[in-house]
Amino acid sequence: PDRVFSGVQPTGTLTLGNYLGAIRRFADYQDRYECLYCVVDMHAITLWQDPAELHANTLGVTAAYLAAGLDPEKNIIFNQSQVPQHAELAWVFNCVTRIGWLNRMTQFKEKAGKHRENASAGLYVYPSLMAADILVYRATHVPVGDDQKQHLELARDIAQKFNHDYGDIIRERTNQDEFFPQPEPLIEGPAMRVMSLRDATKKMSKSDPSDMSRINMDDDADTIAQKIRKAKTDPEPLPGEEAGFEGRPEAENLIGIYAALAQEPKLAVVDRYAGAQFSEFKKELTELAVTTLAPVSDELRRLKADPGYLEGVLKSGAEKAAGLAEPVMRETKAIVGFVGAR
Ligand code: TYM
Repeated sequence: PDRVFSGVQPTGTLTLGNYLGAIRRFADYQDRYECLYCVVDMHAITLWQDPAELHANTLGVTAAYLAAGLDPEKNIIFNQSQVPQHAELAWVFNCVTRIGWLNRMTQFKEKAGKHRENASAGLYVYPSLMAADILVYRATHVPVGDDQKQHLELARDIAQKFNHDYGDIIRERTNQDEFFPQPEPLIEGPAMRVMSLRDATKKMSKSDPSDMSRINMDDDADTIAQKIRKAKTDPEPLPGEEAGFEGRPEAENLIGIYAALAQEPKLAVVDRYAGAQFSEFKKELTELAVTTLAPVSDELRRLKADPGYLEGVLKSGAEKAAGLAEPVMRETKAIVGFVGAR
């Protein structure tokens, strides 16, 4: 049985990258699979978070999930810290992961910056908590943006090493070769890597110091229009299919955003605007962005005004999630040889 898991960190406002690369796609799976969508508050604190802001942002991501069309009856929506099995399995995985694997993680290098000795130990073992998030439910599919690909590969390596290291006892107890599945990343569509509006060689990110570099999920129509108008471009008209995007990252980024917002294939958008001026294209992109995002940000605002409701969604989601995680964790402990788990 296929099971979907994904997570978003409650750190600051959500960007169009989070929305198009992940959150909006989550709703696509809710009718076909059993889905768990988590607000990963324990991942957030790998970098310092102000407690009041962490609390508000956790409810904010929950509201964004709902505003993007996730039905809390059909999906399990919860925050990570309310289900203790995530941390428990992460510890076992810390002992399975090799330091050499963690040393290859590009996100750690970016986030730790120059003073790596000063980064938290949590930031370093971040990927093994992420593997635990997914595998404590034995989830098989993980919709994420392109920047999470390397972490997903590590999760697969951890699953494989656990299955290998404990192979004999897994076969003895379960009559199967594998206890954890190899989770598949779902990275598909035209906006798996939404780039900064100021510099299309950098990812659009909530941590960029310039607010003009990104569209936030709660930006109003005027702000969206201004950010698109000021977005960096080059002097040539938009390329057609033949000319392509070689050396034109800004054009490629804006076309990708358009295609994702319109839910059209990228090539259809390329064909339509081949030879057009950026000014003309930007007008239509603005209109599309505003009409697509306005209902979402209205709903987001409405939901954020009702924290009691959002807390209730997370609590009942956490109860359901724990019900699934508990037997997997119990069996994991028995496999490892912990007394009390059989
Ligand atoms: P986070 O919180 O940084 O981002 C949430 C999701 O948004 C995607 N994303 C983007 N997609 C396209 N273009 C962009 N510019 C862009 N920026 C962000 C991310 O790829 C992600 O899908 N480690 C994860 C959270 C996590 C998780 C998990 C995900 C924790 N445990 C288990 C999946 C499964 C993170 O930091 O995402």
